[in-house]
Amino acid sequence: MNFTVLRFDSIDSTNTEALKHARLGADEGLCIAARQQTAGRGRRGRNWVSPRDAGFYLSIVLRPQLDPETLPLITLATAIAVHDTLAEIGLKPDIKWPNDILVGEKKICGILAETTETKEGLAIIVGIGINLTSKRFPDDIAQSATSIEAETGRAMKFSTLETFLEQPLLKLVAYWYERLLEPGGAAVVRDEWASRSTYFSGKQVRVTLSNESFTGVTDGLEPNGALRIKRDDSQLAIVQAGDVEKLRTDLD
Ligand code: BTN
Repeated sequence: MNFTVLRFDSIDSTNTEALKHARLGADEGLCIAARQQTAGRGRRGRNWVSPRDAGFYLSIVLRPQLDPETLPLITLATAIAVHDTLAEIGLKPDIKWPNDILVGEKKICGILAETTETKEGLAIIVGIGINLTSKRFPDDIAQSATSIEAETGRAMKFSTLETFLEQPLLKLVAYWYERLLEPGGAAVVRDEWASRSTYFSGKQVRVTLSNESFTGVTDGLEPNGALRIKRDDSQLAIVQAGDVEKLRTDLD
């Protein structure tokens, strides 16, 4: 896949801009990058606070020829790519279902995938936000988030971002996306995601959905990437979209 990166100094949201380009017929591989977002968006309607040079903000247009059932696996494939990029710079990341990247149990990256119908067919925008510094975290995430600067002790200069983060990341996104599209690729992506995530099975968690919350133990992935949970009330739950938080145990 060939990537073309359009760079903005400040923009509302790289995802919103990428959605506009996709609707206008942009090819797969178009990326929107910005130094600052004024209306950055997170999963489940949340904001993604995006001060200038405090994060890496990037969105990629994809046009996958995939069975709609398999589309959620694109975010898992992207999480693998981010995980491996951060491992290459010396961090020890974990993936929290579905696609948060954690270091030391704190969130360092979030991924937001959005779909849109276009004349050329369905497009998926995959937005990636990686925290570069912790200095400007809003109070409500200061305890639960971390950054490349905090974890490596080194500030990442904007001028070096392209070489250290963007180039390896895009290469890995292309690699895992292309693997997913191959015959048998869905199983490969699920297995590779599982091998990088302590949340895959046996983790005690609280699950928050739009209308309910329950606790249980993770029990693997469904074929489409949904998370299976053995609930404390013995029922099996299949979570397609929601928030999962590790439950503290006496050993923590
Ligand atoms: C999450 O809630 O964890 C997902 C956060 C995704 C943030 C990124 S930053 C680049 C792209 N543009 C956006 O508005 N959101 C995504």
